Amino acid sequence: MKYLMVCLGNICRSPMAEEVLRNKLFSINARSVVDSCGFEHFHVGDLPDPRTIETLERHGIKASNHRARLFQTDDFDDFDLILVMDKNNYRDVMSKARNESDKIKVDYLLNFIDIIGNKEVPDPYYGGMDGFEHAFELISTACDSIIEKFEKKCSKFNQD
Ligand code: 4NP
Repeated sequence: MKYLMVCLGNICRSPMAEEVLRNKLFSINARSVVDSCGFEHFHVGDLPDPRTIETLERHGIKASNHRARLFQTDDFDDFDLILVMDKNNYRDVMSKARNESDKIKVDYLLNFIDIIGNKEVPDPYYGGMDGFEHAFELISTACDSIIEKFEKKCSKFNQD
């Protein structure tokens, strides 16, 4: 599987989700790929926000050297599942979709844990560390569900 995490700035929520899912994939020896991107030009080329890195490290995850980048239409070809953090991201990604097969790749990350649907990972950028911790808990729970749904059945192969 190839997963793409999407938020606005690609410095807080989506790189956090990228690192959390990659860490969980690594722990079961899965070969799936994760990347992240955003829609806001302002931080393109930047490393994740220091508060994202600190939150990940507090949970024992060392961040890679991901640099913020923008979503591009080719991402529909390169990824199997495009996971957005909030309604604005959903609207932005869907506005780039060329056809139905692009659209069916897009979902809210939290739809993997919430039966009510379309819940958002709140943007922690303008708040304090507690917002980053809250985002981590939501993201980590959703990534556990993703691992269960798409990766666990392959884990016998992955151990080989
Ligand atoms: P993110 O948070 O979408 O979770 O990366 C944000 C980061 C930066 C900005 C907005 C949200 N910004 O406007 O610069």
